[in-house]
Parts: sequence; C-alpha cells; structure tokens
Amino acid sequence: MNIRTVSTTPFGDQKPGTSGLRKKVAVFQAPNYLENFVQAVFDTIDIPAGATLTLGGDGRYLNREAIQVILRMAAANGFGRVLVGQGGILSTPAASCVIRQYRTFGGLILSASHNPGGPEGDFGIKYNTPNGGPAPEKITDAIFARSKVLTSYRIVVAPDIDLDRTGKQAVGGMSVEVIDPVADYAELMESLFDFAAIRELIAGGFALCFDAMHAVTGPYAKEILERRLGAPAGSVINGVPLEDFGGGHPDPNLTYAHELVAIMFDIGAPDLGAASDGDGDRNMVLGRGFFVTPSDSLAVIAANATLAPGYAGGIAGIARSMPTSAAADRVAQKLGVPCFETPTGWKFFGNLMDAGKVTLCGEESFGTGSSHVREKDGLWAVLFWLNILAKRRQSMEQILADHWAVFGRNVYSRHDHEALPTDVANGIMDQVRAAFATLPGKAFGNFRVKVCDDFSYTDPVDGSVSTGQGLRIIFEDGSRIVFRLSGTGTEGATLRIYLEAFEGDPARQRGDAQLLLAELIAIADAISGLKARSGRERPTVIT
Ligand code: G1P
Ligand code: ZN
Repeated sequence: MNIRTVSTTPFGDQKPGTSGLRKKVAVFQAPNYLENFVQAVFDTIDIPAGATLTLGGDGRYLNREAIQVILRMAAANGFGRVLVGQGGILSTPAASCVIRQYRTFGGLILSASHNPGGPEGDFGIKYNTPNGGPAPEKITDAIFARSKVLTSYRIVVAPDIDLDRTGKQAVGGMSVEVIDPVADYAELMESLFDFAAIRELIAGGFALCFDAMHAVTGPYAKEILERRLGAPAGSVINGVPLEDFGGGHPDPNLTYAHELVAIMFDIGAPDLGAASDGDGDRNMVLGRGFFVTPSDSLAVIAANATLAPGYAGGIAGIARSMPTSAAADRVAQKLGVPCFETPTGWKFFGNLMDAGKVTLCGEESFGTGSSHVREKDGLWAVLFWLNILAKRRQSMEQILADHWAVFGRNVYSRHDHEALPTDVANGIMDQVRAAFATLPGKAFGNFRVKVCDDFSYTDPVDGSVSTGQGLRIIFEDGSRIVFRLSGTGTEGATLRIYLEAFEGDPARQRGDAQLLLAELIAIADAISGLKARSGRERPTVIT
C-alpha cells in the first residue's frame, strides 16, 4: 500500500454538534479541511485492525468527492473493508441499519440534514458508533480536540473507485463493497410492518403522495412504496435525488413542503401525504386536508403499535423530548409502560434504547423512531401510519378524533422567531427567568401557574446531567409554555416557544390549534415581553 503522510495546519472551527460537523460547502472545499476532520475521527476511535466502516451520504453536492477521499484515508488508517452505498447514497436511518446489520465499526454519514445543498449550500459529516447511533459528546469532544492539534493526515495513493458499480473493488489494500443502499433497509421495514395488509389497502384504491423533496429518500420510497407495496407510479414526487435538492429547502414542515401541503389541502387530495428531509430521518404526515402534529403522531403510533408485526408484543416504553407534547405520556400511562422526558436532540434516546427501556421515541420537530435503528426514521414513520390505516380502515382525521376522544387532546403549536439579534433573544430569556420568582400561584385568566423551572435531565442509564435545556412554565391543568433557544440556527438566534393546552372536551377538540391556544399565546407574550423586545408582531414559522 502506498501511504502518504500529508502535513496539515489544524483548523480551529471543526467542532461537531450533536448532528456532526456542518459548514458551508466552500469551507469543506478548503485544502485539507475534510481530511483534517476525518483524520481527527480516525485518531479518536481506536480502529481495530482490519475493521469495517460504513460510508454514505444524502447525495448533496460534494458527496461523491468526499467519499473518494474518505475511502483513501480509511485504507491508510487501518480499515480492512468499507461498505459504501451505490452512488455514495445512504440515508441516515439506512446507514444506521447497515452499521447494525453488518456489525461494522461505526460509519461516516455525509449530510447536513435538512439544510439546503448545492455549491452555495451546506455540507456535513458525522461519525456514528457501532450501535448505529450518533457519537456521544465525549467522543465528539475528543474529535474536536484532536482536530485542533494534529499536524498531518494519512492517505493512500490510489485511483477513484466506480461508485455506481455494486460489488467488490479495492482501494490500496482495502476492500470496498459498493452495496445497494436500499435493500437492507427495505428488508428491515418488511420485517416490521404488515406489507401484505398495506398492499391490499393500496390495491383497494387508497391513494398516497410521498414528497422526497429531491433528497435521499426518493430511491427508498420508490422501492418500498411503489415497487413493493404497489402504489401507482407517481405516488412518490420529487423522487430523484439532486445535488442541490432542486434548489429547495429539504425540510418536511408546513412551510418548506408547500408543494405537498397544497396537494393535501386541494380537491381530490390523496388519503395520506408524507414528506422526508435531506437525509431521510425527519417525517411529516398529513391526512386529506388535515395536519398531524409530530407529537400526536408519536402518541397515535404508540397507542396502535401492536397492529404492526414488529411491535405486536407491545412496547417497553416511550421517550419524548421535553418540548414535545405530553400526548404520548397519556398513552404510556394507559399501556402501563414508562415515559421518559429528555432534553432536545436524538442522542438522549440512544442510551434508553440500548438499555431496553424504550421502544418508541419522538420529537416535536418532525422526528419519530424506534429501537429498530439508532436514528430517527422518516420512511419508517410513514410505513407505521400505513400499517395502522391498513388495519383500522379509517381516515387519518377519524383516527385522530378517536384518539382524542379516548385520551383527550394536547393541543399543541410551536412558534419560531428566527434570526433575532442575539442580545434581544437573550433579553427575552432573561425576562422569563427573572419572572420565575413571582409566577407560581399567579393567575392569568383561566390559567394559574403551578411551577416554573429551567429543565435539567439526569440520564437514567449513565447518570450524566444536562442543564439549561429550556424554560418551562407549567399551569395547574397541565398546560405549558416553554421558551428555548435553538442550538442549530445559523443566523442570529432562534427563539422557540412551545405551547400546549389540554382539551378534554370532545366537542372542542377538533378546533384550530391557534384559536384554541390564543389565550396561552397572549400569556407567553405578557411574561416574556417578546413583542416589545423584538419589535415583531408574529413568529416567522408556526407549526
Ligand atoms: C432542532 C430540533 C430538535 C432536533 C435538532 C436536530 O434543534 O428542534 O428537536 O433534534 O434540530 O435535528 P434546535 O434548533 O431546536 O436546537
Ligand atoms: Zn435530517
């Protein structure tokens, strides 16, 4: 093997967040930037001789070039084999599936999730550990520390491999297997859900529209929904992954998935609409003229889990992030299983799943998943809904109405105030924090404050403590207002306000969330001084 050691000047800005290192494409194109980070990962993880690595990405601009570089570096750093998705493609949940199925020594996933792609867009890279989940903070901190001091990286001199040809090739002395990126994941889905029942549902005229947003889930959705489940060609829209996602913002929410939203709220809408993000881990599901909040989606999946063969034996427990509504808690209580409330971010679910404490987990930010992998999983959530619909033979709206009639409705909305000046956002948070001393017992119209706190979490598995996770104001009837600063925004500060009110009266449950929450919205402003401090009349995004 012809290994070269190349000098590099360390970069100071390679701190991976919970979702890996994300930067503008131009930053990743700087000489040695990618190589420096990859070497820092390889130096940190203690590679067993001859180990196998999983490698793939969401197909965005720079994906293919980065994969060729990483293959040469993996060969020079002692890996014996790499499994790489054909065309350089692996969705985030599929990468997690491949890592677990072939017991590889983790994987490198190239993605900036829902951030725009293309030469002007973002690129990203993250290391997932052998359990298939994102590396915990102690590993990402060590990678960052290493990235700041290393002075050279190792790479073999070898030609590019043919990423489009499946089968075995070699880089230096290392074996590279180009694998079908969809097959293993599709098999896993088929083992969890009742494909025969879904096929029958679709054959009976049930119509669906899956918007892949020109991102990674196109080939997965076409294979599973159209080929294996028989949905008519064209049920998957925007199904060809493009390096710039067609210029769009591949984030499945009411704002960015507007093409799908327009279809679902038009005459002749299909029975189910769904979308996924850049790397395939987020999901949004819609009924005909009807939006299912991610919090409700988690609760409905939990309440109906045993309808899916992979969950027929019941679930061990549920975990939800703190800002996610308590709808799932009510289901957990009825099922007699534990419900964990974790800080925002998927990484907190991994420990609980590895310890067998939970089966299902979800976040209000369009993330739902289970212990079948260690990432949230967009298409999995859609298939779960299809499985439920195939068994219950009701509309999505009817399923929700029935659910609320049994459990009550946790009316829910998130208001985002994006790109605020940092000092304004901090001022709003400070005002809320300062009010904590006087709020308990205070009445606002029909609502009386019970407690307020800055959420902190002690991991029940490893005992680690996370503080400062969001300001909670909890009212006596269980309604809540949560103020939290985003950890992923890129411009100024993003303030998120999460609003939740419990509605037990079936006659009022089907009302519009913004109307049902109007009083809480006004209370949030009164406590935080948001309008006066920001000079803004309304949020930039309402979910
Ligand atoms: C956002 C979401 C959070 C999710 C994260 C990564 O983080 O709110 O639930 O885990 O993206 O996808 P935030 O910007 O709120 O820190
Ligand atoms: Zn994502």
